Amino acid sequence: MTRNKLKLGIFGFGCVGTGLYKVLEEAESVDATIKKICIKHPDKPRPIDKKYFTTDKNELLYDSEIGVIVELIDDADAAFAIVSEAMKNGKSVVSANKKMIAEHLPELVKLEKKYQVPLLYEASVCASIPIIRNLEEYYDNDLLTSVSGIFNGSTNFILTKMIHEKLSYPVVLQEAQAKGFAESDPTLDVEGIDPKYKLCIILFHAFGLITKPESIFNFGISRISDFDLEFARQRNFTIKLIARCNKNNNEITGLCAPTFIEKENTLAHVNYEYNGVILKSAFSEKQLMIGKGAGDKPTGSAVLSDISALTYDYRYENKKYIHLNKQLKLVDTKIYKVYVRYPDPFSGFNDFDSIEEQYSSILGNYLIGHICLRKLAHSSWINDTNINVIFFS
Ligand SMILES: NC(=O)c1ccc[n+]([C@@H]2O[C@H](COP(=O)([O-])OP(=O)(O)OC[C@H]3O[C@@H](n4cnc5c(N)ncnc54)[C@H](OP(=O)(O)O)[C@@H]3O)[C@@H](O)[C@H]2O)c1
Repeated sequence: MTRNKLKLGIFGFGCVGTGLYKVLEEAESVDATIKKICIKHPDKPRPIDKKYFTTDKNELLYDSEIGVIVELIDDADAAFAIVSEAMKNGKSVVSANKKMIAEHLPELVKLEKKYQVPLLYEASVCASIPIIRNLEEYYDNDLLTSVSGIFNGSTNFILTKMIHEKLSYPVVLQEAQAKGFAESDPTLDVEGIDPKYKLCIILFHAFGLITKPESIFNFGISRISDFDLEFARQRNFTIKLIARCNKNNNEITGLCAPTFIEKENTLAHVNYEYNGVILKSAFSEKQLMIGKGAGDKPTGSAVLSDISALTYDYRYENKKYIHLNKQLKLVDTKIYKVYVRYPDPFSGFNDFDSIEEQYSSILGNYLIGHICLRKLAHSSWINDTNINVIFFS
């Protein structure tokens, strides 16, 4: 099979952009050369020749020699404008931008169809773990029942340090920021929004469902206290920020929240900046993929894999979406077992279908109960920062 020679126009030369540059240098089998790199700040020192750089996006988007646009910037709105313009100009696109993809899936699918150009984004979900192409190709059937796991490296780093090294949340957050694992504004990670974007992309490739990120419940790790950690230790649990989706006949459930994980569960041993994805399906049963969910070369390698796939004209066929059973819908009526740490007084007792355990002492109060996700999400107390919620798996 002859493979296409590619000329690349890259947007962004930060962590992932430089990572891609490094892996392209070393990967001799991929016949792709960089023609131009568009960045934001022209005066920033760069590790490669100045001749590559421009701040004019049109130098890439309207260069007929550039067949592939690689979008690796940290601004989702600007990224969507760049990606749509590139596709309208007939260019293939590779992106790592989960926020942009999760927020614009319907428009992007239409652009792919209208302009007959591929858009690949393996790096956007769990960086180095090849999850999207597996969902597209290997799980090309309706027997997949659930996808779940640790989809965010910075929060996994923070939780691992808090639990294994008994360090407090603010101390570990600072270390994660210093090491470059967490953004200076860590909200998207620690509040569970970043893994929720990834879950939206997974829902599309696992089941063919397009859903708005706002429709998925997310709860973060920023409220986890020593009291909660002590509870977990006493019950022999660890805590992980878990994103999960399940398919049951025509109903899909999905959420992202801190979750107690038994020590014997494989995900309990996925630590620091590693991600882990568990797939369950009718016949293959349970499978686990573990890999680095962030970082320059691990993420660069997923981008390289997409570029390599373009050399043989690969594209997502979105088969599950195209043949979607129109009855399939996201539901938020499932009952979940949760732990809630609450201050006194607490107004939420009546929201629970049942309460199986309740504890109060001068150190704190908690309950373990069963609650409908919709009731939890719309409760008056969920936004009280003195209250923490942890799900059972
Ligand atoms: N970091 C990871 O481990 C990782 C993993 C998976 C996915 N991702 C995703 O990959 C993307 C890039 O992340 P990153 O960590 O590499 O970000 P980053 O280190 O902050 O770098 C961002 C780059 O984008 C450039 N940029 C910003 N706005 C631009 C614009 N309008 N036009 C052209 N260039 C622009 C910046 O230019 P200057 O250099 O001039 O400032 C910089 O080079 C994000 O969508 C992120 O979510 C990251």
